Amino acid sequence: MDQREAPLLSALDEDKAGGRYGFTQPGHRSGRGIDAETLRIVGAEAFRSDVLVTGGLDDRKSSRGLLSRAEALMAEAVGAEQAFFSTGGSSLSVKAAMLAVAGGKGQLLVSRDVHKSVVAGLVFAGLMPRWVTPIWDPKRHLAHPPSSDAVDEAFAHYPRAAGCLITSPTPYGTCADVAAIAEVCHRHGKPLIVDEAWGAHLPFHDALPGSAMQAGADVAVVSIHKMGAGFEQGSVLHLQGQLVDRHRLAACAGLLGTTSVNALILTAIDGWRRTMALEGRRILGGAIDLARRVRESIDALDGFDVVEDELLTVESSSGLDPLQVLVDISELGVSGYDAGAWLRAHEGVDLNLYDHRHLQASLSPADDDSTTERLIRSLERLRAAAPQLPRPTPILFPTPEELEPEPAMPPREAFFSEAEVVEAKNAVGRIAAEPLTPWPPGMPIVVPGENINEAVVDYLRSGVAAGMVVPGAADHTLEHIRVVAHTRLPWADQRAPRI
Ligand SMILES: Cc1ncc(COP(=O)(O)O)c(C=O)c1O
Repeated sequence: MDQREAPLLSALDEDKAGGRYGFTQPGHRSGRGIDAETLRIVGAEAFRSDVLVTGGLDDRKSSRGLLSRAEALMAEAVGAEQAFFSTGGSSLSVKAAMLAVAGGKGQLLVSRDVHKSVVAGLVFAGLMPRWVTPIWDPKRHLAHPPSSDAVDEAFAHYPRAAGCLITSPTPYGTCADVAAIAEVCHRHGKPLIVDEAWGAHLPFHDALPGSAMQAGADVAVVSIHKMGAGFEQGSVLHLQGQLVDRHRLAACAGLLGTTSVNALILTAIDGWRRTMALEGRRILGGAIDLARRVRESIDALDGFDVVEDELLTVESSSGLDPLQVLVDISELGVSGYDAGAWLRAHEGVDLNLYDHRHLQASLSPADDDSTTERLIRSLERLRAAAPQLPRPTPILFPTPEELEPEPAMPPREAFFSEAEVVEAKNAVGRIAAEPLTPWPPGMPIVVPGENINEAVVDYLRSGVAAGMVVPGAADHTLEHIRVVAHTRLPWADQRAPRI
């Protein structure tokens, strides 16, 4: 195919020049119906680009095949057999992949360090998760992707699991040995889904860790808006091999998706793919060089330790995206939560991740020396301000075992069962009816259907006291937790045992 083409983008260009007028949605009629202030703030051009795709850019029968051609170009560019665009983010794509692979009931091997959208997928799809233990770093309290041996062991225990789902790269930029995990899955005759939300750029430069498709995964889910460039919510499902039925995958994505897809999102995906296919190596090469310089400069600052080598041992990850710059600030004597809040309030600088002891800056090809200089200067000023900031409040970390209780009931059953909201201390020994997910990075600590143990309650409550945020919880302060009504586990009055 000719990667210079961008069918959706070109169609939008023609559409704007062509003077068609729709007595149909969108009701704002290219912005005519929008008040002046909204137009000024959002941008008139955004409304001009917000047109119908089917029955607008393409006709009612999609006879120009614009979307399918743009998807085929994407598939070719990333080495997949098929690609499906979505305007519901990877949160939608991951659910579609889970539905397509596990088909509405049964079991799925899932790495315990997944994003909250996977937990939503377990609820939607009615699946029992069979957790694969990630590699926990007890010093940093970070999870690395699981090893291929852990996946093999999980298939030995749960041979009826429909497939396996892992996250790679993690939001920290650490990558699994996807090739080895894919080999294990395929030896068991099962597909591998990779949540590659943070890895849209990986296929386009060989100095980056290899992409999930290159490594032999069956389905990969990417967010274009994270490490690519496009509007929020742009996501692509990549597919290869025979283990996942492509019609079912498309149907599952259709089941969850909107019937009013956003042309801005789709055309931006199309344009980004063209840029990457034609110039990705050069553009990403520049970003990788910049990241190297930024890492050195930050590491040279007193109190800031750029974490790199220790993320890449046999006991941790097998690859690292250099654009994700993880910095340990424990020497500064402030928590990542307070440091992140200070940077936002005083420097107008937002970071991608912050936790009890880390900050993480996510670099993109859109960054250059001027933006990264701003980052470095603001970190210098943070260091100067650090003595005036509060000392970190201690967090009571659970052991990896305590973080991974066996499910007591399927997440869907727990989520939809009669629930009650109880004081946090009384939630110990009860079955969770809600996920509890600190953000960032959005990895659920409690999944509906799990036995809540004291260590996890202590962790979350001490975390919230230290600045952790748990959005979506019935009670954000975590003084109360939503649990399944009328159930109490036999060991409820003791410290939670390892189960
Ligand atoms: C690992 C991971 N998977 C999936 C998602 C969901 O992606 P999206 O925001 O595109 O819906 C996220 C979002 O942060 C994520 O970190």
